[in-house]
Amino acid sequence: MSQADDHQGTRRDFLYYATGGAAAVTAGVAVWPLVDQMNPSADVKALSSIRVDISGVEVGSQITVKWLGKPVFIRRRTEEEIAAARADDDAALPDDKARNANVDASLSAADENRSMDEAGEWLVMMGVCTHLGCVPLGDGAGDFGGWYCPCHGSHYDASGRIRRGPAPENLPVPVAEFVDETTIKLG
Ligand code: FES
Repeated sequence: MSQADDHQGTRRDFLYYATGGAAAVTAGVAVWPLVDQMNPSADVKALSSIRVDISGVEVGSQITVKWLGKPVFIRRRTEEEIAAARADDDAALPDDKARNANVDASLSAADENRSMDEAGEWLVMMGVCTHLGCVPLGDGAGDFGGWYCPCHGSHYDASGRIRRGPAPENLPVPVAEFVDETTIKLG
């Protein structure tokens, strides 16, 4: 296979991946109201809620867990990341909504409205780009020290807020709560 063929193959795989991601997001949107309306049985409820042990997550790192078929990022932020996110609360944010299922929908995108705890150490977000559904790269990726989606170049900051690129919304924070100091329940 020539280098050009090889490149083609990579490109096709990439496009397939991007399309598949978008389909997954569409399906997810369709499923939510259905599950809600059908008053799901106990086993369905059990599946829609998972507990994640976060005791091994070091400061400055993140884990990705799969929930309802989608990736969820759970990041334990450093003091620097929290400070950077909060310093940008007044920056020009393309999406000024918290996008946090755990707070009032009208709240602003200020970092304290998106993080799990008051100190802002824990950030939990769907790992699905709000443009077409790719999984963004993390660990300080992109021009704003947060996440970067290479599919079409969306940059998210240390609070998961969209800062530049085609993605229209901040990475959404799903229903989540601390069950105890080392366990987060999703759903
Ligand atoms: S899917 Fe297009 S930028 Fe992320």
